[in-house]
Amino acid sequence: MAGKKIKRPDGRKPDEIREISYELGVIKNADGSAKFKIGNTEAIAAVYGPRELHPRFLQDPNKGMLRCKYNLMSFSVSERKRPAPTRRDTELSLVIANALSQCVFLEKYPKLVIDVFVEVPQADAGTRCAGICAASLALADAGIEMKELAGSISAGAIGDLIVLDLTKEEEDWPKGATDIPITYLPRQKLITGLQLDGDISFADFKKALKMAMEKCKDLVKKQEEVLKARYKGSDEE
Ligand code: CDP
Repeated sequence: MAGKKIKRPDGRKPDEIREISYELGVIKNADGSAKFKIGNTEAIAAVYGPRELHPRFLQDPNKGMLRCKYNLMSFSVSERKRPAPTRRDTELSLVIANALSQCVFLEKYPKLVIDVFVEVPQADAGTRCAGICAASLALADAGIEMKELAGSISAGAIGDLIVLDLTKEEEDWPKGATDIPITYLPRQKLITGLQLDGDISFADFKKALKMAMEKCKDLVKKQEEVLKARYKGSDEE
């Protein structure tokens, strides 16, 4: 479709994500925790466990459970969100748990549960992906035995421009936007999360997916750097 070339409102290149930062150990009472910021979106993840799963009939003698609770805080969005959990919060809790379960050696934790709490104090789209990046790092911080870390980013389209990491303004693009949050585990070459909101051709979908998978590799590398810096620090103590 020929048309006017679309420019992103914040001037980013199509495959450029917003500025990111990771921080470890932000919740002292948790077994592991991390904060991830991407532009104006911010997610905090706190991991508790492994601990005994209750009620006991849910326990699996062969493997543990990774359970997640996602919460978009009331003040995180421009129109106050009611504090009670919404259907969206419940959905995203499941999406995040599913995306991360393949990162962990759950068979090492029979009958146990690893609880991951994701809180979003500030939202400008991409909160499930930000939550997954924070939680991946928090799981490692908690010393959970992991196969690998997870990268997560949204890909999509604004008009006919294929982009990464849409902001809320871009998601609300007047002529329509497509949002595809993706979670990718680079070592296992596994996509453990993929949702699609909007319309996109198969060719553009493949392009968006490829861009997102590449960026997930970078996001994981950054997490590794943060963890290595922490270990280096503890060697010197
Ligand atoms: O946050 P994410 O992109 O993973 O999920 P979404 O359901 O597509 O929400 C996109 C964005 O809409 C959120 O990040 C918030 O900025 C905004 N939102 C809002 O303003 N009020 C809500 N109750 C839910 C979402």
